[in-house]
Parts: sequence; C-alpha cells; structure tokens
Amino acid sequence: MIDLHNHLLPGLDDGPADTAGSLEMARAAVAAGITTMACTPHVAAKYPNRASTIHPAVAALRRDLDVAQIALEIVAGAEISTDVIDALDDEELRLLSLNGSGWLLVEAPFAGWPLRLPKLVSELEIRGFRVVIAHPERAEAIQHNPDRLRDLVGRGALVQSNGSSFLGDHGRRVTQTAQLLLGNGLIHVLASDAHSATWRPPGVGDAKVVAARALGVWPEDLDWMVNEGPRLILDGGVVRPPRLVPPSGGAVPRPAARVERDRRPAGPRA
Ligand SMILES: [Fe+2]
Repeated sequence: MIDLHNHLLPGLDDGPADTAGSLEMARAAVAAGITTMACTPHVAAKYPNRASTIHPAVAALRRDLDVAQIALEIVAGAEISTDVIDALDDEELRLLSLNGSGWLLVEAPFAGWPLRLPKLVSELEIRGFRVVIAHPERAEAIQHNPDRLRDLVGRGALVQSNGSSFLGDHGRRVTQTAQLLLGNGLIHVLASDAHSATWRPPGVGDAKVVAARALGVWPEDLDWMVNEGPRLILDGGVVRPPRLVPPSGGAVPRPAARVERDRRPAGPRA
C-alpha cells in the first residue's frame, strides 16, 4: 500500500523530532503493509518549510532507511496550507508536489472555508498543477455542508481522507462526515496523516476495512484508494477514480442531519 500523506520526516514540523522517531515510524508503516510513503511535511506559516528543507531531509532519511535495512520507498511532497500557497511560484510548487508529479496536497482548514478555493483549483490547473484536498472531513465547514466539495471535485480536484477519521479517532462527527463523503463518491484516497509510530500511527489497512464496512462493500473494493490511485498520482498519470457502487444499488443512507458534537476536549491537531 501507498501512504500519500504523513509526517515521517524528522524535525521539520509536528512529526518525529529526530531520525530515531522517523525510523520507528517507518518500521511501523512497513509492519502495517506500507511499501511507499510520500513525505508531506507542513508548508504553512507555522512551519515555513520549502523544497530546500524537504528534499535534503528525504535524501538523508532514505540513506538512514538503507542503513537500518528498512524496505520502505519514500518520495518528497508537502501538505500545503492555503494561507501560504499564493506566495509559492511555479518552480517551488513543482518541487513541493507529490513526487514532482504536479499533484499538490492542499490542507483543508479545520475552521473556516476559503471561498476562493474553487477558483484556486482552477488557477492552479491553468498553471499546470492539480490538487488533492487533504482530510476535508475534519473541516467544520464540510461537516456542515459536505456539498462544498462537489465544486472542487467538479474542477478536477481529488479528495484524501484520513484513515483515522473512519476509525473514530477524531470523534463521531468526523467519522459520520467521512462516511457520508465516501458514500457520495467524494473520497478518492485513504492515507494515514501519521505523525509518529503511536500518534495517528502509519497504516491504512484497518481503516480500509472499517470504511468498506460502513459503505457496504468489500475491503478489496477500496484497494484503488491505497494502491493504484496513489501510484497514478505519484507518477503524474491520468487519474480516473472508479465509481463505487454498494450492493444497495448506490443508495447510501445519509447520517441523521443532526449529529452529536465530538465531546472530547482535545482540539483539532494538525
Ligand atoms: Fe498532515
């Protein structure tokens, strides 16, 4: 399996602080069946990473993985905040795209929703880039109005959901939103968004099984989201997500309109 979104690189953001933590995380990923990870540190006001910090970190970790004999392919990428994306020129964006493919992983903000996001997707396409929206199920605006995503997907964006959202790690509201989006064909990739070997750990296999159960399909029916789909994205190929048709013939029950708020005290974490 391929993990398209994680914070594996050491010392760049809220991922592992040092190489030992990254190697521990890499071992956990391999044990969970991951063969390739696109390293996607935050590129945001709080974590002002650029290709100049990310690419050397990938090269160094690749050597460390080799020495430690951990069979994990890693490629460069970034999780780009909408707050800083305007400041990045084409050359920088190309270097920050997933494996240099031109696909940009753009973080969905937890609070608020940039109304210019659809226009941004179109403008980036004109500049030669395409967009994967990261974990929108965690965005309050999408929880209130999931249809906001349709405009982005209609403009060619893909949607990546966190496996942890299906496993209930972010509360019931996030899980219900993820299930709703999946049932309406608005999720194309499952990834871990892992930050350590234990905090939202690497691996998406369990989430795939739980997500498939919620949708009423077999886990293998979601393989595209963790194998072929991410591979096509990393290779810059033509990406045509398959249409998932649950046994019910396509009718996926909507969760009740009124959903309980996540009562857990912890606020959203990046
Ligand atoms: Fe992330």
